[in-house]
Amino acid sequence: MICLNSSLFSFENMVPISTELCDFLGIKHPIFQGGMGPYKTESLAIAVANAGALGMISSIGMAATLLPEAAPIDAQRLFGSDRPRVILRKSIKAVAKATRPTGGVFGVNVPVAAEFVLASKMFVEQTIETRESDSDIERSLRVIVTSAGNPTPWAEIKRHGLVWIHVVPSVYHAKKAEKAGADIIVASGHEGGAHISWDPVHSMVLVPAVAKAVKTPVVGAGGFCDGGSLAAALMLGAVGIQMGIRFIATQESDFEPMWKQAVVNREERQTLAGRGLFGPMRFIRNKRAEEIVERTLDDAPRFYLGEPVESNEAILDLERSGFTDLMDGKEDTALMFGGEVVGRISDLPQAADLINDIMTEAKMLLETVPGKVLGK
Ligand SMILES: Cc1cc2nc3c(=O)[nH]c(=O)nc-3n(C[C@H](O)[C@H](O)[C@H](O)COP(=O)(O)O)c2cc1C
Repeated sequence: MICLNSSLFSFENMVPISTELCDFLGIKHPIFQGGMGPYKTESLAIAVANAGALGMISSIGMAATLLPEAAPIDAQRLFGSDRPRVILRKSIKAVAKATRPTGGVFGVNVPVAAEFVLASKMFVEQTIETRESDSDIERSLRVIVTSAGNPTPWAEIKRHGLVWIHVVPSVYHAKKAEKAGADIIVASGHEGGAHISWDPVHSMVLVPAVAKAVKTPVVGAGGFCDGGSLAAALMLGAVGIQMGIRFIATQESDFEPMWKQAVVNREERQTLAGRGLFGPMRFIRNKRAEEIVERTLDDAPRFYLGEPVESNEAILDLERSGFTDLMDGKEDTALMFGGEVVGRISDLPQAADLINDIMTEAKMLLETVPGKVLGK
């Protein structure tokens, strides 16, 4: 991996890499921060948006305050006693205020899994309402990203002047999102952190397959972390990348220090995919993840027969105590989602330096590689 020192390479002196994504969203760099519950990812969204990429508020954890007995996390411990609508509204206002000086742009991620759909509706409504209440927020909050579910009911988002982005794990789902009218499709490969599909299709196959199958602009997610992988995504037909894990390991990310350090320390083989609360998830490998996978294997035939995923008390218990152990700093039994790209991450930079280095490296590679391979 090429290591660039941002103090040596200043983005100000470079011609930026700009794709249609940049013009469309009003961002400088074709990079999205992925939504990442259970945190609000408010600090990270501010840092990423102020650095010229797309910051993202994550709503999924906020919903846990509604149904504490069905939630794997202790929402009170994470968010205090506010209702989810209030948590989201405050978060949007905070990010809009902190990004005003730089003109940074951000969005709200709303998972729309069937198990979650009432909360999804509430979060989408709240986002639209908060945005429409203030012209400053209208300028900076440009996007809603729906994920983990059926896109069809969510086209309404566009009627409120927002860009609607939907996350998919397959060509089939990408075509469905395009048919529903999504403005941008994020194709998310199986190596990614947290929620993934049961079908193990990784970014190297998924991104070009989706880019070929739809006319809608495609952003690659799952395994992206540096300028080389951004350049590769562009070569595979994407117009940008979405990163989760890489952004966890930044100074500003809202994650527990232990989780950040685990991303830095682990190698690429140290993740496991198992059953989550709605659909499968990829975890950083530890004793807790192994227990979840064991339980998943006990239940595996149900998935392969294509029957609906009913809530699983045993998994819920494992995740709940995993979350408590995360908060209590118990590394072996803490619940930590992770993607294979942990194996390519070894530092904890500031988000702006990270983005700067990614852009510098991608640009250098895109300029120099053709000369090398074509023997000019
Ligand atoms: C800790 C964690 C939590 C996540 N939570 C969400 C979420 O709430 N909603 C969502 O759409 N995606 C979620 N994701 C997926 C990310 O948005 C992103 O698409 C994914 O991390 C990309 O793969 P990478 O981890 O290899 O960068 C999560 C990922 C991680 C690592």
